[in-house]
Amino acid sequence: MTPPAVPAAVHPSVAAFLADRDAVRAALRRFGSPVHLVFPEVFGGNLAALRAVLDAAAPAARICYAHKVNRSAAFAATAAAAGIAVDVASAPELRAALAAGFPAERIEATGPKGTAMLRAALEAGVTVNVDNLWELRTLADSAVPVPVLLRVSGFPGSAVSRFGIDLADMGAAWEILTRHRDRLRLLGFAFHLDTAATAERVRAVAECLRLVERAYEHGLTPSVLDIGGGLRQLFTADAAAYDRYDAALRAGLLDTSARLHWGGNTFGYHVADGAVHGAPVFHKYANTESAPAMLAELLAAPLPGHGGRALGRVLADNLLDLWLEPGKALVDQAGITLATVEFVKRAGNGATLVHLDLSRDTVTAADQEVLIDPIVLTDAPPDPIGVYFAGHLCLERDLITQRQVRVEALPGPGDTVVFANTAAYHTDLSAARASMHPEPAKVAVIRREGGFVLCPDAEYRPETAVPR
Ligand SMILES: Cc1ncc(COP(=O)(O)O)c(C=O)c1O
Repeated sequence: MTPPAVPAAVHPSVAAFLADRDAVRAALRRFGSPVHLVFPEVFGGNLAALRAVLDAAAPAARICYAHKVNRSAAFAATAAAAGIAVDVASAPELRAALAAGFPAERIEATGPKGTAMLRAALEAGVTVNVDNLWELRTLADSAVPVPVLLRVSGFPGSAVSRFGIDLADMGAAWEILTRHRDRLRLLGFAFHLDTAATAERVRAVAECLRLVERAYEHGLTPSVLDIGGGLRQLFTADAAAYDRYDAALRAGLLDTSARLHWGGNTFGYHVADGAVHGAPVFHKYANTESAPAMLAELLAAPLPGHGGRALGRVLADNLLDLWLEPGKALVDQAGITLATVEFVKRAGNGATLVHLDLSRDTVTAADQEVLIDPIVLTDAPPDPIGVYFAGHLCLERDLITQRQVRVEALPGPGDTVVFANTAAYHTDLSAARASMHPEPAKVAVIRREGGFVLCPDAEYRPETAVPR
């Protein structure tokens, strides 16, 4: 059986680049294969769309680009030139942000920090988004005054988190903040939730507003509420196609003659009593709500206990600045990865393996199966077939797709395979230099006068800086 296709959503600028086969060939010739391509123009468009939502519903807002999503210097430079802020989660990210042109007052350090990171943040004079009481005490003991946000967690109805100060531990935090108010300048409260659920974020905001009230009772004057990241991406061009594939995959878990999975992989599903149960690991690829729509929904949501007023309105009425830390939403569809077919072979189970010159971890975030199809650029005559894409590591598990992918024609050695939408975590979160394979080059693609210009990522400079 040939599996159903799951076509990837591709930004028009990226589609135009892929349609220009000379440009694709030029990228591979000049920078080698595999290669990661980033599109700063798409990043700029994503940013403009989020800004438009904020301008309408929460004008006192600050966007902090979550640098951790991609190591790209071009994205960081684009964000700096656009006048937004940045969220850095390590000392190297802090150095990269400074090099990209962010001034200290537009940098916040997030995530769990060790002694060296805290020292680096203090030296640079950036805002520290404090993860825990140890960090707060360490900052209080330092000689330098520092602006801080307190990251909190433990909201009713939210999953337990390893990050943030639990609401139940706020007693100790108040004590430190009030005793060291000369050094700890409390800007406000922060959270980051790993969920798409608006209701959960609304509950977290409501808890943070209570903390703002408590802070005033302690004589502190916070003015910021930071809602973290978590805005979604659009991966799938056709949600019905995603559903068809998911259904076929589940059917194949029950009936071995229709199997689409490799080995014992069940993608988070489990089979019991002749049925498939559970949720798949790849559920995020089914999302159909854009990041701007998700943000608009959150800002318009009525906040319980505030007379039914919209969340954005309540923040404005309370003179609170809204900060957000989007990572994946800003780089959505702003990156692709090109690889080359080395050879095609048949495995003992009859499966067709298309071997590429990159490994699974180069295009897969945290080893979650990607449920959108790679795009094959080949001149082979159409003859649809289901294949597995295999990686170049000498490991059984280095299958880039652990599921059969429909290709319209079987590619051959030298053909190009495109992995769509790889900029958010897919390229940089798990990639290792196993077997001494070098890291793929990262290259910015710029559209100019009907064609495309390629520029090594580190050398990219945005043309216009937009102060804001
Ligand atoms: C504190 C914090 N802020 C922002 C982000 C970015 O999240 P996203 O890429 O989902 O927008 C993360 C991601 O892990 C995070 O931990």
